[in-house]
Amino acid sequence: MNKFYITTPLYYVNSKPHIGHSYTQIACDVVSRFMRQCGHDVFFMTGTDEHGEKIEKAALERGGKPGEEKKFVDGIVPVFKDLWKKLDINYDYFIRTTDAVHINTVRSILAKLHKDGHIYKKEYKGWFCTPCETFWSEKQSMDGICPDCKRPLEKLDEANYFFRISVYQKWLVDYINSNPGFIRPDFRRNEVLGFLKEELLDLCISRPKSRLSWGIEIPFDKDYVTYVWFDALINYVSGAGYPHDMAAFKKLWPADCHVIGKDILRHHAVYWPIMCQALGIEPPGSIFAHGWWVIKGEKMSKSKDNVVDPLEMAAKYSVDPYRYFLLREVQFGMDGTFSEEALVTRYNSDLANDLGNLLSRTLSMVEKYFGGKVPGVRFFERSCSSRSQDEIFYRKFQNNCDNMKEKAVALGVELEKSIPNFDFAGALSKIWEVINIANKLIEDSKPWALAKEKKPDELAQLMIGLLETLRIIAISVYPFMPGTAKNIWAQLGMKEDLGKVRFSEIKAWGDLKEGRKINKSNVLFPRIDTTKRK
Ligand code: MSP
Repeated sequence: MNKFYITTPLYYVNSKPHIGHSYTQIACDVVSRFMRQCGHDVFFMTGTDEHGEKIEKAALERGGKPGEEKKFVDGIVPVFKDLWKKLDINYDYFIRTTDAVHINTVRSILAKLHKDGHIYKKEYKGWFCTPCETFWSEKQSMDGICPDCKRPLEKLDEANYFFRISVYQKWLVDYINSNPGFIRPDFRRNEVLGFLKEELLDLCISRPKSRLSWGIEIPFDKDYVTYVWFDALINYVSGAGYPHDMAAFKKLWPADCHVIGKDILRHHAVYWPIMCQALGIEPPGSIFAHGWWVIKGEKMSKSKDNVVDPLEMAAKYSVDPYRYFLLREVQFGMDGTFSEEALVTRYNSDLANDLGNLLSRTLSMVEKYFGGKVPGVRFFERSCSSRSQDEIFYRKFQNNCDNMKEKAVALGVELEKSIPNFDFAGALSKIWEVINIANKLIEDSKPWALAKEKKPDELAQLMIGLLETLRIIAISVYPFMPGTAKNIWAQLGMKEDLGKVRFSEIKAWGDLKEGRKINKSNVLFPRIDTTKRK
């Protein structure tokens, strides 16, 4: 069994989770579920980033006293965990940067890098952006404004510890060039290479305690704490067992993919691989940077009061439509505009209309014409014979049935290409092609007329084809909409736990046994009345 180690960023706990956090989380969940279906031994890790100035500030603002930050973060972490449960995020391990094991790893890494001469102390004159927790040089700063978030920077003039990353600049450029899959999508790789055309400055990795005490103490100087990014990036190895469980670490590392937002690409694609290289461990397998969700063309912010709350969306539209919308609406990697109108449109057309209708009318017909049982395959053989009067109809009907079967079975190959490559929109559009072919087949072959004209062979062939297609669709949509897929599965009368069904079963046409009782129960997606909403 191949291992598959995937990570999300560790979320800052200064405020409650929003759409952006849920986006990375859902994407990683989809890939993890798919890899599990394919038989991989998946380790999906997520967690929280709990140190630094930003968190300390939030703790104090909410009435905490200096020294009580841990109490504050302990109160926020369950909000994240509850949301992930609600959104059906099936992670394997939740790491917190305040975990003792992680703290020990950070300290041991700092001690090793210091001993090996990678860390030195010097006077630092420069800028710091608290919201981004990022240092900027005089040249990089835009007259005291953060080049990333465009907020005012803080001027720093203090002695600090530095990590000698400049000596790795050439190595990193060569590494990126010789590993084209390392930074994805391609245009993000070019962005990093562009950044590396400028001189790479050594990275400040400490904050004096006199300024900030909420952090991991530097093992060789008790007057300093670790810079929050240096601390947080280490989670990817500490959570995998480095150095306390090297057997587990050797099995998991290198991580197959760090999934992140585009705003934290530099930290992951420049600082992190250099940290690994200096430590003598392999860089991660790949980094995938997704785009940002904006609202009416603007960034989300508390001051604009436009922050999208995933809990609210899931309560209003259900979890699966929310998961579906985020991954279907925008190509993963690109920016996208979030609006409830667009979500409702997709809900009504793709989910209620296309998928919901296909299931409900197929099952109603099986109920009506075959007493709610899967008809027998013997009908197949008879229906292939051509009949003189209706030859054209039968040939067309046969071709259409074959086409649906071909497209449904071919989905397997399509999804094996697209999902591991984070092409979620592509994967979903292929699944919907099959759903639409099936719906069209119902319209073109007019089962009610077949029933009236007493053509049970063709009717049975059509129903078997539709049921098989729905079985394949349930397996295909499972990573995206696990609850919905399980519902379809149960309605088809399948007893096996869909979470344990192998993806390869998608390619096996004819898995539904004759006589199996279908179990029509509920409407998958009740239509949302848009006239009332206005
Ligand atoms: N703590 C750091 C990550 C450390 S990883 C070792 C951090 N945290 S964060 O909470 O600010 O952001 C977490 C993720 O959410 C980032 O990948 C960021 O890109 C993503 N998003 C934040 N806002 C977003 C949108 N509006 N849209 C999509 N994702 C965005 O950065």
